Amino acid sequence: MTEGNGTLELDDIQAGALCPRPAPYAATYILLRIDDRKDGRELMGKASSVVASAAHLTSPAGNAWVSASLTFQGLKALGVPQDTLDSFEWEFQQGMAARAKALSDTGESSPGNWEPPLGTADIHVVLTALAPDEQRLESVLERARKAYHELSGVKAIWRQDCYALPSAREHFGFRDGISHPPVEGSGIPGTNPREPPFKAGEFVLGYPDEMGGFPPMPRPEALGRNGTYVVFRKLHQRVAAFRQYLKANSSSPEEEELLAAKMMGRWRSGAPLALCPLHDDPALGADPRRNNDFLYEDDDPIGYKTPAGSHIRRTNPRDAAVPGVVRLHRMIRRGTVYGPPLPDGVLEDDGVDRGLMFAFVGAHLDRQFEFVQSEWVNSGTFLAAGGAKDPISGANDRAGDFTIPRRPIRRRLQGLPRFVTVRGGEYCFMPGLRALRWLAGLQT
Ligand code: HEM
Repeated sequence: MTEGNGTLELDDIQAGALCPRPAPYAATYILLRIDDRKDGRELMGKASSVVASAAHLTSPAGNAWVSASLTFQGLKALGVPQDTLDSFEWEFQQGMAARAKALSDTGESSPGNWEPPLGTADIHVVLTALAPDEQRLESVLERARKAYHELSGVKAIWRQDCYALPSAREHFGFRDGISHPPVEGSGIPGTNPREPPFKAGEFVLGYPDEMGGFPPMPRPEALGRNGTYVVFRKLHQRVAAFRQYLKANSSSPEEEELLAAKMMGRWRSGAPLALCPLHDDPALGADPRRNNDFLYEDDDPIGYKTPAGSHIRRTNPRDAAVPGVVRLHRMIRRGTVYGPPLPDGVLEDDGVDRGLMFAFVGAHLDRQFEFVQSEWVNSGTFLAAGGAKDPISGANDRAGDFTIPRRPIRRRLQGLPRFVTVRGGEYCFMPGLRALRWLAGLQT
């Protein structure tokens, strides 16, 4: 196998893997089932011409693109040979539903309660179309449909529309899409000037990684190289319950905002507690040069400003003293809102489904996505805080608690309810463009 020399082949890597999304934007997920192997392979060939590469981001069409990825069942449906199937990461072969225990997808979030067809063997191909607005999204979707609509052996079985508002807020009201890792050779700057660039092999297969080796890559190289693993998860958000919780545990609207900020690690404006611990600073929150420019250890080892158990400090402890090497658990993360917002001030649940289409991109499902989800989001052991889970996205069951370090005594919130439930999702492999053509040319 010839390994890359470190120079990223951006023209062979899908834009969906590396490229920051435009702001604002509209997006659609389309899930396809392959009923006929020959049509499935034709789909791969067509997809290779509609999918955008990461090389043309500055062109006018650079912020509107389609990306395509496959599940393990999808690779099987295409007739990929067994030795190739066996060379994929084990967790990918299992699929997300089979990993429910490791991911704490239990109770109401268990796969038996997922939205069909999520969690079934019918999901083979995931197309994602993305554009700065709905009008342009329609023409990108048209491009995507061209790849499959004449193929009787390929069926569209699910669609999810999502969007990002100009304010970039998610449903709990926080600015999202702020912190992204810098990737060597991608030409895409990181958002934290204090975070050194990552070896590309952390996010794209075929390149050196942070361990000094190469991430395990599916064989043959023609299929694995320039590919990456992608996770999508439909996360329902209980917005009314979150608002009620803030209100019930605060004595004024200002205190509600402070409690929300302590749970997230940022004010709703995006301003980090690390830089403005006492009062919100919306100008800071909106300033991409400053809103992610911080570390934790020297300035705030105990978490008086940003609690160690808050969402952003758990999911990326930066330089804070935690067991292990934080840089081995970074991820490229793209969150997209779905469903209409709950109007401001409403405290009653209106029964409408709304939440986040969470997306992960990285070379390792196990040490990146699953590690963060199981060890940092759904456990407090690494903080010496036992069963305390992430107060925002953790699988809380009213047994966990959340500690806010304070002088003279800390505040401990007990009986945390669950604000996010899982509606389903899947583990996917996003091949490079040449690899899509390799799949199209399968002869078995
Ligand atoms: C509905 C559920 C979730 C919501 C509402 C949510 C919201 C947010 C928000 C508002 C931020 C701060 C903005 C930013 O840094 O870009 C953030 C950061 C982050 N989230 Fe989530 N998130 C959710 C689920 C998850 C899950 C399930 C994971 C991982 C398994 C995750 C991983 C991260 C990471 C790695 C960061 C960046 C932290 C940093 O670098 O400072 N999030 N999230």
